[in-house]
Amino acid sequence: MEAEKDTKLLNLNSGLLIYIVATLIVAKVISVFLISKPRKHLPPVVKAWPPVVGGLIRFLKGPILMLREEYPKLGSVFTLNLFHKNITFLIGPEVSAHFFKASESDLSQQEVYQFNVPTFGPGVVFDVDYSVRQEQFRFFTEALRVTKLKGYVDQMVVEAEEYFSKWGDSGEVDLKYELEHLIILTASRCLLGREVRDQLFDDVSALFHDLDNGMLPISVLFPYLPIPAHRRRDKARKKLAEIFARIISTRKSTGKSGNDMLQCFIDSKYKDGRPTTEAEVTGLLIAALFAGQHTSSITSTWTGAYLLRHKEYLSAVVDEQKQLLEKHGDKVDHDILAEMDVLYRSIKEALRLHPPLIMLLRSSHSDFSVKSREGKEFDIPKGHIVATSPAFANRLSHIYKNPDIYDPNRFAVGREEDKVAGAFSYISFGGGRHGCLGEPFAYLQIKAIWSHLLRNFELELISPFPEIDWNAMVVGVKGNVMVRYKRKKLSVN
Ligand code: HEM
Repeated sequence: MEAEKDTKLLNLNSGLLIYIVATLIVAKVISVFLISKPRKHLPPVVKAWPPVVGGLIRFLKGPILMLREEYPKLGSVFTLNLFHKNITFLIGPEVSAHFFKASESDLSQQEVYQFNVPTFGPGVVFDVDYSVRQEQFRFFTEALRVTKLKGYVDQMVVEAEEYFSKWGDSGEVDLKYELEHLIILTASRCLLGREVRDQLFDDVSALFHDLDNGMLPISVLFPYLPIPAHRRRDKARKKLAEIFARIISTRKSTGKSGNDMLQCFIDSKYKDGRPTTEAEVTGLLIAALFAGQHTSSITSTWTGAYLLRHKEYLSAVVDEQKQLLEKHGDKVDHDILAEMDVLYRSIKEALRLHPPLIMLLRSSHSDFSVKSREGKEFDIPKGHIVATSPAFANRLSHIYKNPDIYDPNRFAVGREEDKVAGAFSYISFGGGRHGCLGEPFAYLQIKAIWSHLLRNFELELISPFPEIDWNAMVVGVKGNVMVRYKRKKLSVN
């Protein structure tokens, strides 16, 4: 009787067990097929050794070198584990639309470009919410409208004429140094205003020098590290703020204005009617100078180096100048610079090969997916840093024929290699939502300089063709670029 009871209990227990197991299996099947989230397909990951820090070491050894090695193996979308962060690279126009077009709430600049805050100062650009930043970028857009640019060009031309009038009849110069210097003078006049250009140039450029030297690779990770370079940066910023506060209040009290970016920022108003403060005006001017100065001077030096190296392209730009001399005489203004198409393509090609901003970054705040050029769908989780690289993407061989060769004609009508693969094939100026606001200003400035040189000098590159200075924050030209010049007016015949 007892045994029969035990057997019944056992049967009951095993029946219960089978029931529970069956329920669990059904629940699992339902969860897998019906209610579970689809599995994430993460991009392939760069192999790096030793674990944990291997990725960081490869990145620090040279991001472009790493991209050159990994792109052929992993394709257009891949991730690098960078110590505590993942960076996902989107390389090429086929995969980078989201990078350029996403809203700030999905892919933001604020965190990744935070290191600029101690240089630009409080209350501007990456120190403020996106809504305020958008308004401040509207001030930039207004300050760089064609009507304003026309006035700036006249000042650019005067600066170039004055600067090169100090060269002798013949001689040898470091073109890199000369163009850097001229571009600071021009930027001072057009952006910072005549008070700085005419009276305070030496003081202000020394202070900018300290600001510049306070932005080091280490500053990207630790912008407030108490090192001498950062202390000098902070002191210089404070002094600049004092200088500009004085200039602004004098302009306001005397009613004297200027045809410069300073005046545009003084006159700018937020949507609610609030005018800009003196501190904001100073911060925005510093941001403009940082965005435009090294980038433009590096580009004008590469343009010169390539033109002097390639006689056929030099002849083409000289011929264009002759035609314009014939048409307009000596005059150079905004509209005449706009006619310099051959020179434009020569600058654009130098900038394709050598974009000074080699890596563009965003921080991802929401998951997104991307189809790689190779046809695979990948999910990029929020929290990743997302990156693209002008220096690498501008030389993709499926976009550009012989990508490492200097060939300005690739942009001419009929070829237009930067357009056939669609938007974001040429990204030296970024693109989309955050595309460069100073692009027209930069071209005008470089054209004003080079049209003057081509019309007034014969030039010859006498040092070896320059190498790339990968160690600079804004990647530029390594060493001197020595040029022999002879004063000779270009004649129409
Ligand atoms: C050859 C010269 C220049 C190059 C190669 C260049 C390159 C760039 C690039 C790549 C970006 C996009 C950054 C990103 O997406 O993260 C950018 C943005 C910007 N640039 Fe330039 N730039 C040049 C000259 C200038 C000049 C002369 C100015 C102003 C006077 C300027 C003002 C700006 C501003 C305000 C932005 C931010 C736009 C935004 O985020 O909405 N740039 N530039």
